[in-house]
Amino acid sequence: MEHGVSRIGVVGAGQMGGGIAQVAAVSGFGAVVHDASAEALDRAKALHEKLLNRAVEKERMTRDEADAALARISYAPSLDGLAGCDWVVEAIVEDLAVKRELFGRLAQMFTDDRVALASNTSSISITALAAAANDAAPRVVGMHFFNPVPVMKLVEVIRGVQTADEIVARTVALAEAMGKTPLKANDRAGFVSNRVLMPMINEAFRAWMEGVAEPEAIDGIMTLGCNHPMGPLRLADFIGLDTCEHIMNVLHRELGEARFAPCPLLRQLVAAGRLGDKTGRGVYDHSKR
Ligand code: CAA
Ligand code: NAD
Repeated sequence: MEHGVSRIGVVGAGQMGGGIAQVAAVSGFGAVVHDASAEALDRAKALHEKLLNRAVEKERMTRDEADAALARISYAPSLDGLAGCDWVVEAIVEDLAVKRELFGRLAQMFTDDRVALASNTSSISITALAAAANDAAPRVVGMHFFNPVPVMKLVEVIRGVQTADEIVARTVALAEAMGKTPLKANDRAGFVSNRVLMPMINEAFRAWMEGVAEPEAIDGIMTLGCNHPMGPLRLADFIGLDTCEHIMNVLHRELGEARFAPCPLLRQLVAAGRLGDKTGRGVYDHSKR
């Protein structure tokens, strides 16, 4: 199946939205990225320039190719800037109410049956997001990229109850055209990736809280002993502790088992504003990196 896409709109210019826009542009698509925060848009633009300059230095791209990719990305301070896009990927905060509000607006803006409204959600029900999109529900699909988007190969593709077969097939084709490997999962909280990953991260916080070992030892044991590229606490900082807490809350609410409740220590760090790499401090201090 052809994806039939030329211009991708991305809502949210944080770690994930910025990465999705970059990969789209490098793969030859036009990309328009919108964020409610002007600072987030500025940060995304600066990071795109830095990462593509590095790709040129490392001779993975020519200067002309990098410049052409950068020229394909535009930064929209208003959601209206996405008008004319033929595919939308939502990558805003992992909050059901905020996402549902956005899907309602996107459904009003994009009435063409060919325009998919995809969500990069880590855990939230695609069917629940689709319910906010009214008549556009068959066009709502999960298109779950991984962090860092330019490096990670997977896109988890999630079909909601109402998602049209054609939209799922085009999501697969688009992910492939973006150089990714799409794998399908059903619409259950956390899908496959975070159903399995987040409880491990949460358990690492519990082990730390209970004094089983210090963070460096917990992470060292999991990197050296299990060959993980990052230990679970370092990975939590990388993902964002706020996002980890949101995901655990969804798992806990939807799957109803006490073991999915976010660890109190994780919740405490979030309450203290220690969100990980993005705020300079989480489990670890990243301010000097
Ligand atoms: N953005 C773009 N590129 C990045 C990057 C970033 N944030 N961080 C690293 N990279 C690139 C580097 O530029 C480098 O590329 P080159 O060699 O071509 O220059 C490459 O990644 C390797 O980086 P480093 O050598 O600096 O460091 P590394 O070898 O330790 O790799 C890593 C870094 C790829 C992040 C690696 O540590 C890793 O794979 N960590 C685990 C990541 C992971 O598990 N991600 C999934 C998180 S869960 C998720 O995404 C789902 C969810 O819903 C929460
Ligand atoms: P982030 O905190 O880095 O960025 C979120 C961005 O969304 C912020 O810049 C914020 O200003 C913006 N935003 C919030 N509400 C908005 C709205 N209503 N309209 C426009 N912009 C809005 O978060 P992130 O890590 O990029 O995560 C984004 C989404 O991707 C979440 O659903 C998350 O669960 C998912 N995800 C995250 C990871 C990860 O490792 N961090 C991996 C895969 C999926």
